[in-house]
Amino acid sequence: MEVKEVVISYEEYSDVSEMEACDQELVKAAISAMSGAYAPYSHFHVGAAVRLSDGTVVKGANQENAAFPSGLCAERTAMFSAGANYPDRDMLSIAVAGGVMGRLAEAPATPCGACRQVMAQYQAKSGKPMSVILISASKIQKFAKVDDILPFIFDSI
Ligand code: THU
Repeated sequence: MEVKEVVISYEEYSDVSEMEACDQELVKAAISAMSGAYAPYSHFHVGAAVRLSDGTVVKGANQENAAFPSGLCAERTAMFSAGANYPDRDMLSIAVAGGVMGRLAEAPATPCGACRQVMAQYQAKSGKPMSVILISASKIQKFAKVDDILPFIFDSI
């Protein structure tokens, strides 16, 4: 028996101004997308923004429903919209911002397992790394690829 380790590294920024220009744009888009949230049950507003290979930014926000499983997270709302409207373009980056009443939460809204799996598949589809940017009031974390938030990805497709 051998004990193995998985080491994950990521970048942490204390302010959006430290980021490269295209990431700054994506962070701002994710924060503005929070206003599209429909969250009458959790009252937690999440915005997501996906940057495509041609620079297009597609936004999404969480949409809740009285039949709970019928709602959808911000990340999948954005990715499915990008996939449906721009099927020939690659998704190169996704930024996520969460909070209440338009105010960013203290801790980053980390994507649920289902959203990570969907990110993983669009990353596999494009064959290029999709970076993941998680935004909170006090810091921004950037992961270079989906593998960094979903080790041991299921990708046998
Ligand atoms: N939510 C997202 O949209 N993305 C996340 O990363 C975490 C959670 C939504 C689902 C639900 O509408 C609300 O936030 C509370 O969990």
